[in-house]
Amino acid sequence: MISNSCIPLKVGICGLGTVGFGTLQLLKTNAEEISRRTGCEIHVVHVATRTLDQKKVASVPASGTDPFALVNDPDVDVVIETMGGFEPAFSVIKKALEKGKHVITANKALIAEHGNELFATARANNVTLSFESAVAGGIPIIKALREGLAANKISSLAGIINGTGNFILTEMGANKRQFDDVLAEAQALGYAEADPKFDVEGIDAAHKLTIMASIAFGLPLDFNKTYTEGISKITPEDIIYADELGYKIKHLGIAVLNGTQAEVRVHPTLISKSQLLAHVNGVDNAVLVEGNAVGSTMYTGPGAGADATASAVVADIIDLARTKASGADRPPIAMLGYLEPRSDLTVLPIEDIRSEYYLRILVDDKLGVMAKITSCLQDAGISIEAVIQKERVSQTVSIVILTDTALEADLNKALTSIESLDVVSGKINRIRVASLAK
Ligand code: NDP
Ligand code: HSE
Repeated sequence: MISNSCIPLKVGICGLGTVGFGTLQLLKTNAEEISRRTGCEIHVVHVATRTLDQKKVASVPASGTDPFALVNDPDVDVVIETMGGFEPAFSVIKKALEKGKHVITANKALIAEHGNELFATARANNVTLSFESAVAGGIPIIKALREGLAANKISSLAGIINGTGNFILTEMGANKRQFDDVLAEAQALGYAEADPKFDVEGIDAAHKLTIMASIAFGLPLDFNKTYTEGISKITPEDIIYADELGYKIKHLGIAVLNGTQAEVRVHPTLISKSQLLAHVNGVDNAVLVEGNAVGSTMYTGPGAGADATASAVVADIIDLARTKASGADRPPIAMLGYLEPRSDLTVLPIEDIRSEYYLRILVDDKLGVMAKITSCLQDAGISIEAVIQKERVSQTVSIVILTDTALEADLNKALTSIESLDVVSGKINRIRVASLAK
């Protein structure tokens, strides 16, 4: 039964940066709409942030720099953690859960790497730990996987799940901009992590994929089993050559469940220009999900930024406000997906996956080079699907090869042989190629 005289839900925000301040603003801007929808007002009663700007917290009754003081404030029912990083975020969340307070976090690193302990603490204390904003910014993908698709056996996920990386690849391709210049803009726009290596080296996407694979397949959260490769080795030439072959390069998180064997991997990927994900550009993210009942569904929208991420944080607050308005202490545990993970699943090492590959090889411009390379591939049982040879630069040329599907371990052997040829310079740039359902 909805109570019309619900006591307001009182929240405290730890960390008033891009996401935390966005959340404070959104709760103010859309207050009327939100309380009409929830049947309960939401009041921000305490803010704790390292560098306090009084103008930003003028409307908040209590403010300071100590997140533990916020957790200990008896007035705070719900703690929002938007500081990022491992400490003090982990201890703040744990303390809040132990005190019987619900917690909402945008911190995917913490959920992916320490989620098992934090969910156990939440469960033991009969409270919730929500994290919609931790994956794919404003896209409600956690709700989609947990609620909307709950009837399905999910066999695969493929997504662009880092806004900064997609922004960089898009700008390098469409506007021929330099990597570092676009990264600096992503930082100024509030998209990037405090340490942008997390974006560029694929760690942030791997955190998000670890979380999604856990919800979709029932895999225990284990970040160390997620294969992680970033976009820093992608050159403007790769983008141009891929384009000539009919592909876009996207940084994808791919999770596949085949029987009891899972693949969980993040890496740059060539996808055909005809696929929907190839047209997801800029800071936008998208996740393609295959369910056995529904078929393919795709979810897309802004993957980072203050307003988009605040939209997801506030959705989690609204869930708690609705629960309060219904007279319950917390949403049902089953809805939160804190059920026992499956113990029969294994994650395949990257050497055991099968894929097609794009190879860019820098070679001396001499007769017979191509024969030597194809012979190395043949020895490893790998066939070639397409080859292009690029214009000569000083004494060298780039050869670009698309292979047929091969076992990664076999490809590694072939690459080692090719790199040892005296006509080949430096490391081969290898990018996996994926064919998706849409
Ligand atoms: P910001 O750096 O913009 O904000 C973090 C805020 O927390 C800053 O105000 C910072 O203070 C404060 N803070 C940091 N450490 C402490 C501390 N020990 N005590 C008190 N306050 C502290 O980061 P974002 O808002 O971008 O990111 C926050 C979280 O949200 C991260 O986990 C991130 O991964 C996640 N996220 C970010 C998205 C985005 O688009 N930016 C999207 C989705 C998730 P100070 O100002 O002094 O540095
Ligand atoms: N740095 C992250 C990104 C923020 O660029 O996607 C959103 O999680």
